[in-house]
Parts: sequence; C-alpha cells; structure tokens
Amino acid sequence: MYNAINVNKDTWWVGVNDHETDLFESLWSLPNGVAYNAYVVTGTNATAAIDTVKGPCFDEYFNKLNQALNGHDLNYLIVNHMEPDHAGLISQLKNRWPNLKFVGNAKTMPLLKGYHGISENTITVKDGDALDLGGHILKFATVPMLHWPESMVTFDETTGVLFSNDSFGGFGAHDGGIFDDQKLKSNWEDEMLRYYATIVAKYSNIVQVALKKLSGLKIKNIFPSHGTLFRDNVKQVIDLYDKWSKYESETGAVVVYGSMYGNTRRMAEAVCSGLAAAKIYDVRLYDSSRADMSFILRDIWKFKSIALLSCTYNTLLYPSMENLCSKLLNRMPKNKFLGIAGSYSWSKGALTALQAFAEKIKLTKIEPEPEIYTAPNQTDLQQCFELGVNLGEAMSK
Ligand code: FEO
Repeated sequence: MYNAINVNKDTWWVGVNDHETDLFESLWSLPNGVAYNAYVVTGTNATAAIDTVKGPCFDEYFNKLNQALNGHDLNYLIVNHMEPDHAGLISQLKNRWPNLKFVGNAKTMPLLKGYHGISENTITVKDGDALDLGGHILKFATVPMLHWPESMVTFDETTGVLFSNDSFGGFGAHDGGIFDDQKLKSNWEDEMLRYYATIVAKYSNIVQVALKKLSGLKIKNIFPSHGTLFRDNVKQVIDLYDKWSKYESETGAVVVYGSMYGNTRRMAEAVCSGLAAAKIYDVRLYDSSRADMSFILRDIWKFKSIALLSCTYNTLLYPSMENLCSKLLNRMPKNKFLGIAGSYSWSKGALTALQAFAEKIKLTKIEPEPEIYTAPNQTDLQQCFELGVNLGEAMSK
C-alpha cells in the first residue's frame, strides 16, 4: 500500500491504512485497523481528487497523490463527505494548489467553511449535475444521512465506477490486495456488516431510498471510502445492502448478559442450551461488560433472535446492558424475536427495565420472561432453557 494503485482507467487509489487508531469515532474498536480510501481521476482536460484522508496521514497521502498526478496540477476536489476521516487534508490541498476548485452540494458548503474556512472557488452541485474532466464525466448524486446530511456519491460514467464514500464501506485495513477478488469474502463481509451496524444502520430506510436512486446507473465497480474496493461482487454487495437495510436476517441468535457474580451468566448459558436443543447452532454468547459493542451490534443485525439478560444494579439495568439497549433503540432493528430475563437480590428493577425496552423496540417478544431471585435454581434455569427453545422454535416456523 506504499504506492498509488491504478484501479481503473486513469483512476488511482491514493488511500492509506491506519493501524494506530484503536477506536473509530472514538467509539468502535479497530482490531484489524481501518483504511481511508481516496481516489484521483486524471482526465485529458483536468484532474480531480475524490475525498482526502484523515489529517495525520498527510505525508503518505501526498506522496501517493503526487504519483497519481504525475506532474499535473490538481484542478478539482470532489468533497463527497465532510467528516474529518475523509476531509482531513482539505486545507493542505488548498495550500498546495491555491486555485483548486471544491465541488460539493449545498449542505457541504457551510461545513467546508466551518472546518477549513473555505468559501471561494467552490462549485455547488445538485443531483444529476456533471463535471467533464475530458474522457471522464463525473456525475453527482446526494445521499443525505449516509452518513451525514451533505453526503454524496460520484459516478464516473466512462468507467462505471461509483465512488460511494461511506456507503458500502467496511472496517479493516488492506492486508495485501485492495479488491474483493484479492480478499476472503468472509473477512470483508463481516467487517462491512460491523461498519453497517455501527455507522449506517440507523439510516436503513434512507439506504433503501439511495439504492433506488442509484438503481438506474450502470455500476461496474464500487469504490467506497473505507475497506474493500469491489469489482467482482458488485451485485452481491448491493444485494447485501438491500438485505441489511430491509432488516432481513439469518437463522441464529445473539445472547447478551450483564452479570456481576456469574448468576445471570448461568441463566444466559441455559438460554443457549435451549437454542441448541431447538437445533439453532449459530449462537453467539456475549458478556456485555467485556465483549466489544460493535461485534454485538454486528451479530444482532445478522441474526433473527436476541436474548437480553441483566442483573439489577442500583434498582435499574446493569450499566453495560443499559448501554446496549440504548444503542439498539438508536438503531431500531426490525423483524427479530426478543427474549428477556432479569435477576435481582435486594431490589427488583432489571426485568421491569427490559420490559419497558421491549415495548419501545417493538420486536416480537418470546415467553417466558424469567425473573430470578439471587442465584438461579434448577427450576429457574429450566425457565431460561425454555426461553431458548421457544426462541429457536419461533425461527423455525
Ligand atoms: Fe467515514 Fe462518515 O465518515
């Protein structure tokens, strides 16, 4: 990844790998790093960069940009998105090329001025507007809230490349190849779904609108601003976005518990045993205190059933379970089965809070709802086992 990479006719990847940032948005873990993909298209009349990268990656980005430009000036910067992981080096580009023109939509411009003090040499585009570079006609389409209000995508009519920005993006730095046919599908799909569940999922209904808007384009490649570049599985990737944004999921279950002394964990394990007895074999058991939230959210988006079990903490939900419930209410998954259970010692509270959560999240609730005093006995564990069996059987109907 140390050089610019020619990824289509006159089209260059000038992105960078980031293995130093441990939390994306200071929230989501990056065990496999993350890539900020940026691009350059060199036409016969003009050159255009499509997005930049995060600020600290200055040297590496500029080296690659200069390789791609091969002595030509940079004429345009297409600002698909103003979030600083893509817009981090806009001021530096302006310093290097004072006549550079900045292309964005009406919602881009206040952010461009706010972050970089730039309000001149701007070109405001709207849906369907085009920029002719000579041999490459770039067309623009706004995709508001994917994942900021000013987000847009750029389509090269000549090559059929969709520069999709955050849409179709994934976590994970590039190890070796940058294209989908150079990577294991299981790797890029998992990291793309984790990105979807954490960054995009809240706006799933808007993804559906965007997919319809883009459906008329003859897309041959999808080059997002994070993760894998797609040239082999384009239809498959669009189908995945369609599936995830329609809240379609697979048979399997995520069981998450909050437990201080292991009693609620034993209840969760009994739910898992019930799921296995109902022949559900893809089951993920997570300790909410220790498991990474982004992986829990990824698997909740992937599977049809969720079981949430919490001990009571100061009369309320256990804090890490409260955090998970809040993140789920923010994303509002649909078409899933939900099981809940609580435990308590000196005051009830967890199950009542989970019942209130269940009312709000509007998933299909599965019985029973065990509420267990102190440590679970065999009868209590049998109730939890039944909850697992019932969740499993609900998915089989
Ligand atoms: Fe990758 Fe919304 O920025």
